[in-house]
Amino acid sequence: MVEEIVVIEGDGIGQEVVPAAIDVLEAIEPEFEFVEADAGDATKAETGAALPDATYELAANADATLFGAAGETAAEVILPLREAVGSFVNVRPAKAYPGVDALRPETDVVFLRENTEGVYSGHEDRLSDDLSTLTRVVTSSASRELAEFACEYVMEGRGPANGPESGFTVAHKANVMRETDGRFREEVLAVAEERGIDADEELMDAFATKLPLDPTQYGTIVCPNLAGDVLSDLAAGLVGGLGLLPSANIGHENALFEPVHGTAPDIAGEGVANPTAAILSAAMLVEYLGHQDEAAAIRSAVESVLADGPRTGDLGGDATTEGVTAAIIERL
Ligand code: NAI
Ligand code: MG
Repeated sequence: MVEEIVVIEGDGIGQEVVPAAIDVLEAIEPEFEFVEADAGDATKAETGAALPDATYELAANADATLFGAAGETAAEVILPLREAVGSFVNVRPAKAYPGVDALRPETDVVFLRENTEGVYSGHEDRLSDDLSTLTRVVTSSASRELAEFACEYVMEGRGPANGPESGFTVAHKANVMRETDGRFREEVLAVAEERGIDADEELMDAFATKLPLDPTQYGTIVCPNLAGDVLSDLAAGLVGGLGLLPSANIGHENALFEPVHGTAPDIAGEGVANPTAAILSAAMLVEYLGHQDEAAAIRSAVESVLADGPRTGDLGGDATTEGVTAAIIERL
């Protein structure tokens, strides 16, 4: 069966790292049909819309979408794209690799971040010259859906080996936000108990101290939207930089994969961006579509090149995007 992958390069280094990831996918899984679509700053300048309806429709109907990055229009692109694929969880692994100078080389965590509500649900108002408010939305249904995903994730052995024995950690602030995070915590822990999964809990501020002090205490981490955004960026800092971190926005019948980084205007156009984050995002895509062996092959080729080189400038090397990509393809 041919699977349709929508490819949105976007702006800046998106136009360099996404083609690198496609080269890797073409080397490994010829049953994909790639359909290119536009979004981002340049698209807005040309058409008036950062995310044209045609791109939204393609992403909504594809088997999966690979997205690079958008510049100033990032929010105008990524939020509707996540909606197009009905994504209820954002999966963000942060793993330190041998050969990469990491602050905490023993880090191996995966954040499962609620992706639709919390403080990012869009209910924000400027009520007067002095006062602005935000309504934080937490539903039992979204909390349980995330928890169900987390349970399957750890039961299938997809999470890191660290953390609570065969379970996950839930990070929240239910001691202060009793109704919203209280509901989130209660539902996540209830689902874990129903499924027989070990779940530890941490207050998210204490967690922000404990994670950098000893990352080996944690493996799979489940959190509300904003907490997941901030804490996963904290973890990114522990493992050696943005050029390495992939992510997945998973929905029920569809998903969107993207490097965590942006358009890197300081190096865009020079052909020196690190393609690792985009290639690991492509590996998550391949895994999502059920090709476990191919995903593992991509990961191991990437790890081997990170260990031995060539490396791009962000990792202290002087290789180009193409040079690193060619080395990865050679090791597949
Ligand atoms: P950024 O991730 O683009 O860059 C931050 C720093 O990391 C820069 O020094 C950059 O050179 C470096 N970097 C990032 N990815 C790299 C890679 N693959 N290889 C080597 N170095 C890499 O974040 P910044 O500077 O905050 O934002 C730049 C633009 O990107 C902004 O317009 C922002 O709105 C957009 N952005 C878009 C995102 C998206 O589309 N999902 C996410 C984050 C930012
Ligand atoms: Mg962020």
